[in-house]
Amino acid sequence: MVGTVEDPGGRRSERSKLADGTGSLQVCTDRVIQDLSEWRDSQMRLTVNDVVHDVDAPPEMPLLWVLRDLLGMTGTKYGCGIAQCGACTVHIDGKQQRSCVIPVSSAEGRSITTIEGLSKDGSHPVQRAWAEHDVVQCGYCQSGQIMAAAALLAETPDPDDDAIDMAMNGLICRCGTYPRIRAAVHRAAELNGRGAR
Ligand code: FES
Ligand code: FES
Repeated sequence: MVGTVEDPGGRRSERSKLADGTGSLQVCTDRVIQDLSEWRDSQMRLTVNDVVHDVDAPPEMPLLWVLRDLLGMTGTKYGCGIAQCGACTVHIDGKQQRSCVIPVSSAEGRSITTIEGLSKDGSHPVQRAWAEHDVVQCGYCQSGQIMAAAALLAETPDPDDDAIDMAMNGLICRCGTYPRIRAAVHRAAELNGRGAR
């Protein structure tokens, strides 16, 4: 009989537990309780674009999900979800970071800037340079590209081509706007009063 079979380790198989109706219910209940406790929301305080937000989210939830789904900031895009494309790039304490792999708990207490916070009216030098060089094609990657370029210029006001390529490395553009991006970064440096290439 299935319900009385013991496995070599002395424990009944999952199949036998399901068959006789004993044990399986407790196993399932324990698992559900464990899962729920692991995913229980936590209240966190995030500073995004200089505004403080209280959010209820599992600590492991990617920052990108919190920005888009809980705070409604959809300017930051989801591309790959595994830190391979750069579409989700934001600034955390001024550095470019891929928000798809940053647990929201690790962003608490830090300053987060998204594309919505770069400027209120598109007047940031990078945004103006992007418009001058008509960089955007389909646009999907561009908030990430702009955030990465802004972080670069904040650290290196007059980057050469190598520095630009290094900073923008790994930000994928399926439309191939790379030459325009490089030119626009140089132009943004000029608009900032640096660079004369
Ligand atoms: S969505 Fe984050 S790197 Fe691709
Ligand atoms: S502009 Fe289309 S993916 Fe970059």
